[in-house]
Amino acid sequence: MIILGIETSCDETSIGILEAKKTKAGFFIKPLNNTISSQIKIHQKYGGVVPMLANREHTKNIPIVFRKALRKTFGSEENAVSKIDLITVTKGPGLILSLLIGVNFAKTLAWFWEKPIIGINHLEGHLFSFLLPEIKYPKPKTLSMQNAKIIFPAVCLLISGGHTQLIYIKKFGDYKIIGETRDDAAGECFDKGARILGLDYPGGPAIAKEASKYKKQGSKYKMLDTEYKLRLPRPMINSQDYDFSFSGLKTALLYLTQEINFSSQKKKLTPILAYELEEAITDVLIIKTIKAAKNLKAKSIILAGGVSANQRLREKFQEKLRSKDLHNINFYAPLLEYTTDNAIMIALIGFFHYLNYPHKKFWTWEKIQAEANLRL
Ligand code: KG4
Ligand code: ZN
Repeated sequence: MIILGIETSCDETSIGILEAKKTKAGFFIKPLNNTISSQIKIHQKYGGVVPMLANREHTKNIPIVFRKALRKTFGSEENAVSKIDLITVTKGPGLILSLLIGVNFAKTLAWFWEKPIIGINHLEGHLFSFLLPEIKYPKPKTLSMQNAKIIFPAVCLLISGGHTQLIYIKKFGDYKIIGETRDDAAGECFDKGARILGLDYPGGPAIAKEASKYKKQGSKYKMLDTEYKLRLPRPMINSQDYDFSFSGLKTALLYLTQEINFSSQKKKLTPILAYELEEAITDVLIIKTIKAAKNLKAKSIILAGGVSANQRLREKFQEKLRSKDLHNINFYAPLLEYTTDNAIMIALIGFFHYLNYPHKKFWTWEKIQAEANLRL
């Protein structure tokens, strides 16, 4: 079947088209198109997403992105109508002013085209984005039932600008949040940390770029590092639960910059502080995730969400999981193109829901509503 995905939960307007079917052995998944229009440049000067601006941009961009995706995949909008079997749309969580644009667009389309439509939890989309094959990949991915036995039960570390959660996944549709942040999300800590250091939004990639300068040319910064002892705390790293806390880390960074008169040597100090912040955040995320996976006897660890693009995090996870007592735990992370918000992951979840309940008349537009605070 061909599934249309629509995603507008934050600052990315995305339309995805996925071909998927159930086979004897498992599933066949082939992303046909993943068109994304990012608003980063618009929000950058404000240091974060401005909801009213996001609303305006989604309204302006959704028909353009939609038309582009349809024309590229099917040649024309008219051809698309007969080919698309199912519409899926992110219904939450997210910014309500952003969600409403995608939800209303999708509902109108479902009514006009007389197609079934499923409202999807954005977080569920992130959870399974590791399954998606490359868009340019010549062969689609076949997931066998055997794969499921290797993957689940799994512990997923879901890390984005708004969420930091550890989720125990028994199987598709069966999730338990076992830990989460008590204040800021990991992505928020990267973003706020970057702002303290005078770096651009989004902070994650900016911090990673500065940190890599320190990693590549450590000796250049060694003297300053030893002189100032630039160390940050690893909040809650030894706590008994699986919760996180990142707001203190951001404050610790702010105090540190004040103590060492950061602005006078900004260029030299930024890579050291960025490195230390990246290490502090990733250390806590990794220790807690591995602890959960071990205690709960998970077969795998899955990364999901925007922060999962962080290379250092991936490297450190892989390094740790090579150790003798952990090498039985599999490690999965999405391709970089699927770490950020995208509509293909929404279409994939819609496919699984439809397989579980394949009744066209059940999935109607009247049932769908945007829910800003939707939980998993
Ligand atoms: O999932 P996402 O695209 O949007 C939300 O739903 O929040 O995540 C965005 C977050 C931002 O906080 C951004 O700074 C962070 O992901 N991020 C990164 C990296 N790339 C994006 N954080 C660390 N390292 C990265 N390479
Ligand atoms: Zn997201």
